[in-house]
Amino acid sequence: MSRKITLDETIEVARPLHEVFAYVSEFSRIEQWDPAVARGTRLTPGAPGLGSEYRIDMKAGFSLHYRVVEWEAERRMLMTVDSRLFTAREEILFSATARGTRLRYIATFDFPAPLAAMSRTFPSVMDRVGKSTMEGLQRALEDNFEPPRESSATALADRLLLPGLCRFTRLGYRAARKRWKPVSAWLGGRHALVTGATSGIGFAAARELAALGARVTIVGRDPAKTEHAARAIRASTGNLQVAFDIADLSLMADVNALADRLLATGEPLDILVNNAGALFNPRQLTAEGLEKSFALLLLSPWLLTERLHPLLARAGSARVVNVLSGGMYSQRIDVDDLQSRNGRYSGSAAYARAKRGLMILTEEWAEKWRDDGIVVNAMHPGWADTPGVESALPAFYRSTRAALRSPEEGADTIVWLGAATEAGKVSGKFWLDREQHPSHVFRHTRETPEDRRRLLEALGGYLTSTRTARRSRRQA
Ligand SMILES: NC(=O)c1ccc[n+]([C@@H]2O[C@H](COP(=O)([O-])OP(=O)(O)OC[C@H]3O[C@@H](n4cnc5c(N)ncnc54)[C@H](OP(=O)(O)O)[C@@H]3O)[C@@H](O)[C@H]2O)c1
Repeated sequence: MSRKITLDETIEVARPLHEVFAYVSEFSRIEQWDPAVARGTRLTPGAPGLGSEYRIDMKAGFSLHYRVVEWEAERRMLMTVDSRLFTAREEILFSATARGTRLRYIATFDFPAPLAAMSRTFPSVMDRVGKSTMEGLQRALEDNFEPPRESSATALADRLLLPGLCRFTRLGYRAARKRWKPVSAWLGGRHALVTGATSGIGFAAARELAALGARVTIVGRDPAKTEHAARAIRASTGNLQVAFDIADLSLMADVNALADRLLATGEPLDILVNNAGALFNPRQLTAEGLEKSFALLLLSPWLLTERLHPLLARAGSARVVNVLSGGMYSQRIDVDDLQSRNGRYSGSAAYARAKRGLMILTEEWAEKWRDDGIVVNAMHPGWADTPGVESALPAFYRSTRAALRSPEEGADTIVWLGAATEAGKVSGKFWLDREQHPSHVFRHTRETPEDRRRLLEALGGYLTSTRTARRSRRQA
């Protein structure tokens, strides 16, 4: 005879009903709040809803298959559960209260006879499991976490190089995620702009921000590819508020035109992700005569971010995320040679110097825009398997491919910096896998205050010259 066990637990949280429903109804997020779950994966595309299916891998080594069989938005969802150990029906009921939202979870498990006969302790074990799951969900929804601080152990590992480099691989990601806190923030009503979102890390970041409810604008240089990416994000998340804009971000005329279009809407910008990037070998110039690494990786994000400052300030609590690279640890900014004119050109060194420059800007903006409520951070995605790495560093790609992360794993910290409540409490820092890292690991890469002043002055000079060029084009 089979054995049926029913759990019935209720929690109440001070969060609006639509936010609670949005978080819980994307059931793959159970991995964030149920301590027994290793991984949650949605198997069906589109917004969560009737017919959505999930694979939930348990830490105990077996998987559950969930299917949503009844669905009333912001009221209830009923799921069937299949596994090799048991079947179940799980119903979650949502209702608004004076304090926020009440959530009732009713699960009926059906254990087959051999398993049920094995233990009389099943009901009490299941009861404990149910309670700890609901406590985890309550903590996730209360969303009251402190941001991680920079630790001396992390700084030491970075200095010892090899442990630091190991963290860049998928192993580093897997080790780090064990310490992460849930991200239950809902981005509905917020506008996010992601550059370089046609592939790799930018695409993955834009898709996750859309899944969290943000209105997302992706920027790409190839119209067909960019439109295709926007369509793919809409289809996989069910979020129809995904727009696209076209700009070759290595051309300041395009950056200015993009900024003009965004400024003309007057719409606040809540999240800006400066992600577009590439590594150039040999040295190349843009049509505007600028060295490409400098143009795309430093001048462009500087110009775009400076020009969009009014929209960021209007948002009230905007976040800027600059996508850097651990490669910057090897370089010092050379203000006298921003365009790598002197000596033998190395694409990797030019790339790393530009990223170093963007780290300096991250710290400067964080300070300068603190009173506007704008939080600015930088991150290293780790080593991720993307078209950019494959084409720019083929030998590195071939030898490390097995250890590379997925683009989603590389994008995780971008999304966390843009969305997590606790990430909004820290500004001007460098992050990898949601952990603060020092911005320098070697003394020789440290710039002086004079270097910083001269860098800002040099970039300011480009702003003046690109604006002048724009004015004369308009007049012509
Ligand atoms: N993957 C890694 O291991 C790794 C490590 C450290 C840092 N990063 C950084 O992560 C970011 C994303 O790189 P990825 O690895 O995801 O590479 P990717 O797949 O090649 O993506 C780069 C993105 O930037 C866009 N882009 C390049 N040049 C552009 C231009 N002139 N104008 C507009 N968009 C342009 C690309 O557009 P197209 O599709 O048109 O080419 C693409 O969308 C970069 O900033 C990179 O430096 C990556």
